[in-house]
Amino acid sequence: MTLAQDRTQDRTLAAQVRADFPILAQTVNGHPLVYFDNAATSQKPRAVLEALNHYYEYDNANVHRGVHALSARATDAYEGARDKVAAFVNAASRDEIVFTRNASEAINLVAYSWGMSQLQPGMKSSCR
Ligand SMILES: Cc1ncc(COP(=O)(O)O)c(C=O)c1O
Repeated sequence: MTLAQDRTQDRTLAAQVRADFPILAQTVNGHPLVYFDNAATSQKPRAVLEALNHYYEYDNANVHRGVHALSARATDAYEGARDKVAAFVNAASRDEIVFTRNASEAINLVAYSWGMSQLQPGMKSSCR
């Protein structure tokens, strides 16, 4: 394969991925939108938008805090997601999967739960 063919395939793959994200179909300041602020807010592909839309149209209810049909479906979907994540990361148990609101909450949870049980007064830490 030549470099030119490789580049063409890269562009084709990029175009295919872009097409999955409806928000990227717009122009900003006269240019096709390129979005780099993923750490703060990630854009969502069409499959995620459709799943969210379906959830809010049919199943939206309290998770783990209701006994009615919608709450049962919402809880099943939530716990089903936990099982899928557990399988995806090859977790030993679904109990290893903890959902947090964001990266900050996740790293703080690790720091407090692991750090408080492992660190002793006088220990030093370093960041490289
Ligand atoms: C570069 C970068 N890293 C991390 C974060 C933290 O993200 P979260 O809201 O998931 O805690 C942000 C949030 O804006 C960010 O911009």
